[in-house]
Amino acid sequence: MLEDLKKIEESAKAELGEVSDISRFESLKIQFLGRKGALSLILRSVKDLPEAERRSIGDAANRLRDALEVLFLKRETELRKTVIEGSLRGEWVDITHPGVRNPRGHRHPLSLITEKIEDIFHDLGFVTVEGPEVEMEYYNFDALNVPKDHPARDIQDTFWLKARHVEGEGMRHLLRTQTSPVQIRFMEKNNPPFRIISPGRVFRHEATDASHEFQFHQIEGLMVGRRGELGGDVSIANFKAVMGEFFRKFFNMKDMKIQLRPAYFPFVEPGFEMYISCVNCGMKGCSVCKRQGWIEILGAGMVHPSVFKAVGYNPRDVQGFAFGMAIDRLAMMKYKIPDIRLLHSGDMRFINQF
Ligand code: PHE
Repeated sequence: MLEDLKKIEESAKAELGEVSDISRFESLKIQFLGRKGALSLILRSVKDLPEAERRSIGDAANRLRDALEVLFLKRETELRKTVIEGSLRGEWVDITHPGVRNPRGHRHPLSLITEKIEDIFHDLGFVTVEGPEVEMEYYNFDALNVPKDHPARDIQDTFWLKARHVEGEGMRHLLRTQTSPVQIRFMEKNNPPFRIISPGRVFRHEATDASHEFQFHQIEGLMVGRRGELGGDVSIANFKAVMGEFFRKFFNMKDMKIQLRPAYFPFVEPGFEMYISCVNCGMKGCSVCKRQGWIEILGAGMVHPSVFKAVGYNPRDVQGFAFGMAIDRLAMMKYKIPDIRLLHSGDMRFINQF
């Protein structure tokens, strides 16, 4: 029997040394210390042993039980500690670790520039109005005095939309090629005097290169007064004053010069192109101004009598100027962007610089 006790002790020690999870440990504990375990059987049979053996076997068995209880308790404490440590290591949170910021969007350079342009014109008494990007031929061309056979209407310049049904003259749909139709829409519903600007997207069916996109942005301006009223004779001098003020503020250059050169646009008479002194070289001549010292910046003119007639005004009673310029080009000049196509590239390396 002493032999048996010895074997129990050895196998208990071996098993305990190997066990690494709690449930296996629990079954070992039942196996060695449970009521039906080998040790319990020996302890229970001690009373039936001959007198001579009873004492020594009983003592040895009791000692072994006490010793095993201590060993099991020790092992259990160790096992529980590793289990807890393991889960702590897995769930550990470093509260001193810097937080992760949610990425935050920001304005597109074109939005920034449009806002800046609008701010300056708002200070000069202009209000912003908007018009649709899908336009009717009438507003984009007819009412603006653009001749029926004008090349701008040609399939090469204009994106025409396939309409399900077209009801008569000028009702064909297109993507507006300019912001000028907003002039007509506004004048149909309002009477002078007024000063409006209208920024927005325009579309032209063209091949793209570093300075051309088939989709870009314009800002239209229109200031009309009633002749004979105080300040109502809105003149070319007024136009030059407004634009001079605008460009000096926009480029933050007090000594900026402007120049008008005659040009043809069907909806103005006289019509001109406005040039500004080169913002890059101070008129010494560089690649931006193509060595001219001047940069062509917008189209403009005094509103044509036919346009006033189209909206129901009497051309003898009203007078005013209109202009249109490309926002994208202003953004490129302001931020020194070499290629217009970057603006719509969606390239984050470009966008994130603003
Ligand atoms: N709409 C013209 C263009 O797109 C610009 C312009 C606007 C010219 C108003 C004169 C008056 O080129």
